[in-house]
Amino acid sequence: MKLLILNGPNLNLLSTRDKTQYGEKTLEEINEGLREIAARHNVALEFYQSNHEGDLIDKIQELREKISGILVNPGALTHYGYSLRDALEDTALPVVEVHLSNIEEREEFRKIDVLTGVAKERIVGLKEKSYAVGLGKLLEILRQ
Ligand code: DQA
Repeated sequence: MKLLILNGPNLNLLSTRDKTQYGEKTLEEINEGLREIAARHNVALEFYQSNHEGDLIDKIQELREKISGILVNPGALTHYGYSLRDALEDTALPVVEVHLSNIEEREEFRKIDVLTGVAKERIVGLKEKSYAVGLGKLLEILRQ
């Protein structure tokens, strides 16, 4: 079984962004933690990050037949990325959404989440741990 770990705009700069919101870890360090969890569950992961909505969509369309689920942090596209939302919905795959920060308790624009209704679970505010918890949820959904 293979899962796609998808990260949107600016997440390549983790560790240099606002640490009070996003924690200290680099994206590569977070991915390494996910690789360890996946190895324990005998699951393969494919990682992709882009600052461009269209590239994220191309990757989803390229892999949709080859994967069983998607763990996604859409970055700011969370709040307005309708074509990313459609691409995720069109896969009909289980999607789990993660955020390092608590988007429910920040600026008003971050409270809008266009993935609502597409993501089966949403984990927010645990900094890098959001990803590990999110991957656990995705594995749980796939076991059901
Ligand atoms: C984020 C929250 C978004 O509002 C923001 O634009 C990000 C990161 C998070 O992980 O907390 O880039 O998705």
